[in-house]
Amino acid sequence: MSDTNINATGKLPEGGESVLNDVFSPYADYFIDIIEQRHSYISTEPVGIYESQIKHYICQNYFNNEQQTLWKKIPQFIAPIQSLEKIGDFITVDYQGRVPMIVSKVDDDRCAVFENVCPHRGARLEHHGEGCKKAFICPYHSWSFSHQGNLIAARWKEAFPEIPEQYRSLTSIVAQKKFSMLWQMPGEPNHGFSLEHWFADIEDQMSAIGFEQHQLLNCRERMVRANWKLLIENFIEYYHVQSLHRNSLAPTLNGQLYSLDSFAQHGRILTPLKNLAQVRRQTPHKTRREMVATYLLFPNVIIGVQPYHVFVSFYHPVSANQTWSKTFNFIHKTDAEISEVCQLDVEYLAEALEEDYEAIEQVQRNLEVSSAPSLLYGEAESLIGQLHRNLGAILRQGGKEVNQA
Ligand code: FES
Ligand SMILES: [Fe+2]
Repeated sequence: MSDTNINATGKLPEGGESVLNDVFSPYADYFIDIIEQRHSYISTEPVGIYESQIKHYICQNYFNNEQQTLWKKIPQFIAPIQSLEKIGDFITVDYQGRVPMIVSKVDDDRCAVFENVCPHRGARLEHHGEGCKKAFICPYHSWSFSHQGNLIAARWKEAFPEIPEQYRSLTSIVAQKKFSMLWQMPGEPNHGFSLEHWFADIEDQMSAIGFEQHQLLNCRERMVRANWKLLIENFIEYYHVQSLHRNSLAPTLNGQLYSLDSFAQHGRILTPLKNLAQVRRQTPHKTRREMVATYLLFPNVIIGVQPYHVFVSFYHPVSANQTWSKTFNFIHKTDAEISEVCQLDVEYLAEALEEDYEAIEQVQRNLEVSSAPSLLYGEAESLIGQLHRNLGAILRQGGKEVNQA
């Protein structure tokens, strides 16, 4: 860390301003050097151009192959756990094509994940999106289950001379917590799979964000009529900012200057805002307010560190041309006193996100009728080639196990 991270009182920055401070500071100095030389610059290992086949975005067979091969082999995002505070708190989680889930806070540091399906005769057990309950009572025949998933009572005891073991508890989903998010473990037998290993290379970066210090501000959901990979591709390049977002983001984002970096299969883009040099000189501890980072947690979770909020966006593939997007917006707990500013930061970005979604839906419509075989990506879009190479490696791997510790 450089000396300029120490503020006027000689103390290290605290709270919301310190998010990613160690990561941002050296880059801030580096970007300022480049800005002063008045060059546009992309900092990346040269990888050349990359071409991606259009059938990967429109072909239902290719989509089915992803469903059968890819998603079963990797951890799948479930939800952040910030809204689960007290024992008995729960949320329900529904992603089309995946089993409906109940996430239940079972003790001080553990959440359990169950299928939201009654073992008696298959009804949906919990209909509310969130709440706090001692027991879940099935609306069909009123069997009740504890928040730990165990059968409390079956109505009319005499109707059931016996209840075999398998009907006495909700079906558990194997899930683990990482970065204050719950992840469903790979469904295929892969006993050596380790979440620690999967995220090892990006662990420092995520820790520097400090998710546990953030509170959930709101959550936005939207169906996007486009293949999930087009959405992810959009987030892992800033090449489009100065054109697509010319009236929204471009006036504040530098847009010409960024660093693209890989952390194993994960990725990151860092870019300065236009005021960085001035702010760095006058209030160096406020660097976080003048830089933006976007992370890819491979393959379909995007983490955005914006000046006044952090977002986690999950892109759930519904079909070859439909993706369910869910964005969780967080603010640092110490920024709660400036929550109006944070809220504006969220809305400002939401406008730009709409521009992205509309453009991407148009791309999808074009790809479905175009006779072109492929798309082209340059050095400024190098994380996209990496995404496809990593996806290809898993899809080609077929039945083999991935990422053993
Ligand atoms: S299906 Fe739930 S109690 Fe019958
Ligand atoms: Fe965008």
